[in-house]
Amino acid sequence: MAMSRRLDLIAWAAKSGAWIIEDDYDSEFRYIGRPLASLQGLDRDGCVIYVGTLSKILFPGIRLGFAVLPESLIPVFKAARYLADRQPPTPHQTIVAEFMRQGLLTSHIRRMRQRYREARDVVVDSISRELGDLIEIEVPECGIQLVLHFREAISDLAVTAEARRAGVVVKPVSPLYLEAEPRSGLVLGYSGFDPHQLRAAAVKLAKATLAVARRKAS
Ligand SMILES: Cc1ncc(COP(=O)(O)O)c(C=O)c1O
Repeated sequence: MAMSRRLDLIAWAAKSGAWIIEDDYDSEFRYIGRPLASLQGLDRDGCVIYVGTLSKILFPGIRLGFAVLPESLIPVFKAARYLADRQPPTPHQTIVAEFMRQGLLTSHIRRMRQRYREARDVVVDSISRELGDLIEIEVPECGIQLVLHFREAISDLAVTAEARRAGVVVKPVSPLYLEAEPRSGLVLGYSGFDPHQLRAAAVKLAKATLAVARRKAS
């Protein structure tokens, strides 16, 4: 979101007495330009609730996240957390704090950013080579997943099922639409795999897509 829209949104929230929940779950992995200022960092009126997670930076099983809250909300968040499950395991928190203190988190993020950028490029190149004009890819500037849309009427649900049979797990986007006319497409995650695996998966996904397209045509 452009800076002017960010400032407008904060001004609107401050005027309307609304909260903005800023779910900033993968901005560490930005591949182009400088990191964008968070809404929370721009907010002078205490209307932004910033939530972050270590699920993407480290790994999902660690179950650690964090929130940066307006001062007035700290007691109610503390009470809610206490009621839910008190706190994440103390050893996990201590180990991650030490990891951060030694500067290892920063170097880990730097290393993973490079690796995920390469993974993104491998997926974009391989899928484009295999499916060419059938798809349109939104190349992400940030994050660990991308969305592709089918230019032709190919069912993303059918491709998802066909790909799964070939051992490739993707997520269809058409069921995610609430009001707008659904578009057919897929969400592809590219973290956690090496380039060789990603290329092989792209070939299988392309075969699955072409099989669905052929079935439809016949
Ligand atoms: C939109 C969004 N926010 C946050 C998260 C992180 O959730 P958690 O910290 O529970 O793993 C995810 C995980 O995929 C997500 O998709």
